[in-house]
Amino acid sequence: MSIANDLVLDEKLDQLDPLRHFRNDDELVPVQPPSIHNQEIRLSFTAPHLPDPLVVRLTVDASPGCGGIAWPAGEVLASYISRRGPFEGKMVLELGSGTGLVGLAAGLLGANVWITDQAFVLCLWIAFITTGEIICKHHRPLLDIMLRNVALNHLVDRVCVKELNWGDALPHDMPNFDLILAADCVYFEPAFPLLVKTLVDLTSRHHPEILFCYKKRRKADKRFFNLLKKEFVWSDVTDDPNREVYSRESISLLKLVRKR
Ligand SMILES: C[S@@+](CC[C@H](N)C(=O)[O-])C[C@H]1O[C@@H](n2cnc3c(N)ncnc32)[C@H](O)[C@@H]1O
Repeated sequence: MSIANDLVLDEKLDQLDPLRHFRNDDELVPVQPPSIHNQEIRLSFTAPHLPDPLVVRLTVDASPGCGGIAWPAGEVLASYISRRGPFEGKMVLELGSGTGLVGLAAGLLGANVWITDQAFVLCLWIAFITTGEIICKHHRPLLDIMLRNVALNHLVDRVCVKELNWGDALPHDMPNFDLILAADCVYFEPAFPLLVKTLVDLTSRHHPEILFCYKKRRKADKRFFNLLKKEFVWSDVTDDPNREVYSRESISLLKLVRKR
């Protein structure tokens, strides 16, 4: 089959089951069965400047969809920023935070952080589209998990949880950020232009550093980078001693810079 036909087939399957890439490939899916419900895990990150490992406590819950568990690119980015910290006095924004892992790590390193995600997760919208019913209309499963995780890590003074849907106008009360973080946010093709728009909006007046950690799962991801390259250039982050290890898992840590 030609590459073009592969992509068409991929897109059709994505429409039917947008999360299939997270489930179907045994080698790429994190070792966390979908039965995880309301569990607490601890992830620790070491760095030469840290006297003790940085420990992030997380409530994980697979029921709200892909954002409720910690993903490999998130662990890579959390590990990298642990080495880059401390971040006292820095304003940090995380996009597509899921459990909040990366933003919480930044908060533990002293930053003031917004962890953000969509209020209604994909599975709920699919139910709405297919049944015509509004399901869990007042339920915000991911944001609630993030709020719990902020409290678990004693970060209520420094980390706030906000709804930020890619492609939407940015909130009026949004401060200027020094650093923008995004991990494992390339997986659903209809969201590609929305994520690029949000990155463009966030860099239209200021020039924050953007660290973008990405796990390659399929050929169609290239379409995200085709859109991204109209507005941004990027380069590999090369000062991470773990780079060789995660590169073998098709994970890349990129620094994005807006084209001028
Ligand atoms: C694979 S998860 C990664 C979560 C986390 N960054 C990590 O690495 O563990 C992708 C995240 O992107 C979020 N997301 C997907 N589409 C979104 C959109 N249109 N607006 C905001 N967030 C979105 C999902 O809800 C989910 O939390």
